[in-house]
Amino acid sequence: MQDKRFHLGWFTYFGQNAWNEPLGSAPEPWTGELHMDLARAMERACFDYMLIEDTLSIPAVHGGSNATYLKHGIMVPKHDPSPLAAVLGTVTSRLGIVITLSTMAYPPFMLARLASTLDHLTRGRFGWNIVTSTEDAAARNFGKTEMPPRQLRYDMADEYVDLVTQLFASWEHDAVIRDHATDTYADAAKIHAVNFEGEYFRSKGPLNTVPPPQGRPAYIQAGGSPRGRQFAAQHADSIIATTNGIEGMKRYRDDVRARAAAIGRDPDSLKVLFLIAPVVADTMEEARSQYERVLASPGFTERTLALFGSFVDIDFSQFDLDEPLPPLTTNAEQGALDKFCQPGSGKTLRQLVRDSGTSSTLELVGTPDYVAGLMGEAMEAVGGDGYLLTTPYHRLTRLYIASITDGLVPALQRRGLTRSVYTKATLRENLLEF
Ligand SMILES: Cc1cc2nc3c(=O)[nH]c(=O)nc-3n(C[C@H](O)[C@H](O)[C@H](O)COP(=O)(O)O)c2cc1C
Repeated sequence: MQDKRFHLGWFTYFGQNAWNEPLGSAPEPWTGELHMDLARAMERACFDYMLIEDTLSIPAVHGGSNATYLKHGIMVPKHDPSPLAAVLGTVTSRLGIVITLSTMAYPPFMLARLASTLDHLTRGRFGWNIVTSTEDAAARNFGKTEMPPRQLRYDMADEYVDLVTQLFASWEHDAVIRDHATDTYADAAKIHAVNFEGEYFRSKGPLNTVPPPQGRPAYIQAGGSPRGRQFAAQHADSIIATTNGIEGMKRYRDDVRARAAAIGRDPDSLKVLFLIAPVVADTMEEARSQYERVLASPGFTERTLALFGSFVDIDFSQFDLDEPLPPLTTNAEQGALDKFCQPGSGKTLRQLVRDSGTSSTLELVGTPDYVAGLMGEAMEAVGGDGYLLTTPYHRLTRLYIASITDGLVPALQRRGLTRSVYTKATLRENLLEF
């Protein structure tokens, strides 16, 4: 019988909880407690991985300053996910731990060394979310004036990934011999320089860590543009994506699978997870009213536009809320912009904000069983491979987490749609299980 199960990932950030929500306002220390609870919950629900996104600046897009972001705590504070990944690895034993590291920010050797170390600390459960960074404000924190154009960013990232992949492989898997008789720790003949001389990066190698348990960590990526999708199809073990509805999901997945096949990869080695933010409650009415309450909450429109503006580097405060948007392009996230703007729909900006609702690929509002049914139908129509769940409106609360892990996921498991028990040890093996 064909395995109809799909994969689950969880998308989050190392920021604060929903500090100003009635049911999420416990003061959280910056000791990782909330994320430890989150990771344990995801592992109980047998998720493949938890991914911590990251950016490297306080946005100053909306209204041309960082004031809105600081006032509401949007995309700030954001602490470094690397040490958190180590902590999360110690409180879990099966869940994949994925963090975002930018090719703009780290010298390749440092990234390879860090990722190798984290793959050891998590016992083969580490993944790297490969981003090039998109915000000019981040570039300025690294002594540059602006981000390179997308094509160049990805050309550089191709070379970067090539180099770090060679560094991971610079020790053969059996290079450490620990032979007491000959007093030999490692066999130098099995450890090789990489002598990488690229257009943008150079490194002699070898790496100075022992080989990571997975050989290399799992690679995760979120290409949206054609160039980004090509990059993802070439390198990623799992792609994370946002798009509109079942048709958009199918188009996206078919496209990246075709790109993978065209360069000789087995498309089944590439798992596409679609971003969703379900709202589940005891009854259909309660779920719908929760959803509507958030859309109607004070400041929702401004907060959404400020947050989204930071993704696409566009100041939406310059536009009339009750008029349609002019055509817009960006050097940042073009796919997300197109999805938001719904070009040709004639909708006003206010309507677009409402539609963007839960930043969700599908609108999933209802009882756990109802939403599980919709998720199953959509996945069957698309062909795979799974979902990346996140909190609606970037509002992280333990209550929401429990609604997913103790409500929605059991309903999915009862339908035989998601994993009920882990049978593999490493992140890449879990991704390839079905
Ligand atoms: C679900 C999802 C998560 C993302 N997470 C990050 C992130 O943590 N940091 C970041 O700089 N970019 C992030 N991005 C942006 C992507 O890396 C990429 O730039 C974006 O999808 C646009 O695609 P393009 O680069 O092909 O235009 C994310 C995108 C998506 C869809």
